[in-house]
Amino acid sequence: MLPKKTLNMDNKYIYIKSYGCQMNVYDSNRMKDLFLNKGYKLTDDVSKANLTILNTCHIREKAVEKVYSDIGRIKKVKNSKNNMKIVVAGCVAQAEGIEIKKRSPVVDFVVGPQSYHKLPDMIKNSEEVLNSDFLQNEKFKNLVYNSSNLSSEFLSIQEGCDKFCSFCVVPYTRGPEFSRPINDIIKEAKKYVSNGIKEIILLGQNVNAYHGISYDGKTRDLSYLINKISEIDEVKRIRYMTSHPIDMEDTLINCHASNPKLMPFLHLPIQSGSNPILKKMNRKHTVEDYLRIVDKIRTVRPDIAMSSDFIVGFPDETDKDFENTMKFIENVKFVIAYSFIYSPRPGTPAQHKDNIETPIKKARLSALQSLLNEQQVKYNNSFLDRTMEVLFEKNGRHKNQYIGRTIYNQSTFTESKTKILNKILKVKITKTSNFSLECQI
Ligand code: SAH
Ligand code: SF4
Ligand code: F3S
Repeated sequence: MLPKKTLNMDNKYIYIKSYGCQMNVYDSNRMKDLFLNKGYKLTDDVSKANLTILNTCHIREKAVEKVYSDIGRIKKVKNSKNNMKIVVAGCVAQAEGIEIKKRSPVVDFVVGPQSYHKLPDMIKNSEEVLNSDFLQNEKFKNLVYNSSNLSSEFLSIQEGCDKFCSFCVVPYTRGPEFSRPINDIIKEAKKYVSNGIKEIILLGQNVNAYHGISYDGKTRDLSYLINKISEIDEVKRIRYMTSHPIDMEDTLINCHASNPKLMPFLHLPIQSGSNPILKKMNRKHTVEDYLRIVDKIRTVRPDIAMSSDFIVGFPDETDKDFENTMKFIENVKFVIAYSFIYSPRPGTPAQHKDNIETPIKKARLSALQSLLNEQQVKYNNSFLDRTMEVLFEKNGRHKNQYIGRTIYNQSTFTESKTKILNKILKVKITKTSNFSLECQI
């Protein structure tokens, strides 16, 4: 029998590290709230922690390696102080379960992304592994919701994925698509604004597949939800991510024209600009489908800033396929995008083939990133001397420095002797670079 592990929860410190996507950040915030509610204090110093939670990501092999190397380092801290428990939560916990404890016996608890509301009980009852159920509904009902930020807060409205792209672990780690009821989301948004939050970022692995139950028992889509949230006076800005092209309905596209609180920024991953590769990826849309969406949205909201995700070196990707991806990027003119080298993932349909040589993958990634970078620089330069609205969200590294974001999601900084945190102000852009803008109030 495994030894009993108990934990006294009085006056204890909790350390949480989040890996991967924004939904993990949201989940980490909820775990933090659960334990703060039980009297824990938060620390960013792992050596002080009595409970260390690693909220992990399984999306690429590197993300998983990072977790195991961190566990190695934390093991030394744990062994030197003797009163720390280690929890592995998140998507690696869901995918690997008990194997994590076999590989790293120093880990005390393993909990998947749909079961973490039970973590305090697991610890109390010495239950070491819980990753089997997809309990989305039960989870959201049993969480604690406090703001972690001053201005902008993530709010998960949808979870899971039914799309099964051939490269991706998410349908297995997060389970089937689930939409939270509108009422619960509005309540959570109101809680955040009562703490001063001005911007709500709606999250989901397929956020635009949202179809939640409304007050009247009817199922409503994302545009309806956005309009409902925008009725809350104190909410000044709404964003959403991540969307899938096949769920990009006209109602949502039109919402970008009709709802001034919905920010003109769309993160819409395509993965490749070549149809044969999209087919092998099981993406269920073509390059032309994507371009039609871009056309439609630019018709109703010409200034929309487009963002995307790309995978290079997918099995059988030819030079021609890659060239088409480059042409596609030039055509759409993304203002920002994330790009990754293909990583074969256990349990996914594409896992058995990885036939593009590493130097070719690296060269393609580097060419693609240079092009994206060039577009980003050009885009940001076009804002020089322009006046725009910025929500100032945090202090910068220097004295009197503040950092905020434009409506197009660009990071912007300025110096101010008066306090401007959590204010939306008109600024003039005075300097630009690829990653940020400098402004004057
Ligand atoms: N739901 C979103 C994104 C999910 S994961 C979508 O539909 O696009 C975030 C990004 O990680 C993906 O968009 C993809 O670009 C990348 N990714 C996912 N699996 C990967 C893999 N096996 N190798 C490399 N990148 C991957
Ligand atoms: Fe993964 Fe595809 Fe689902 Fe996005 S849509 S989470 S890439 S399976
Ligand atoms: Fe990673 Fe899980 Fe998010 S695999 S990207 S943390 S949904």
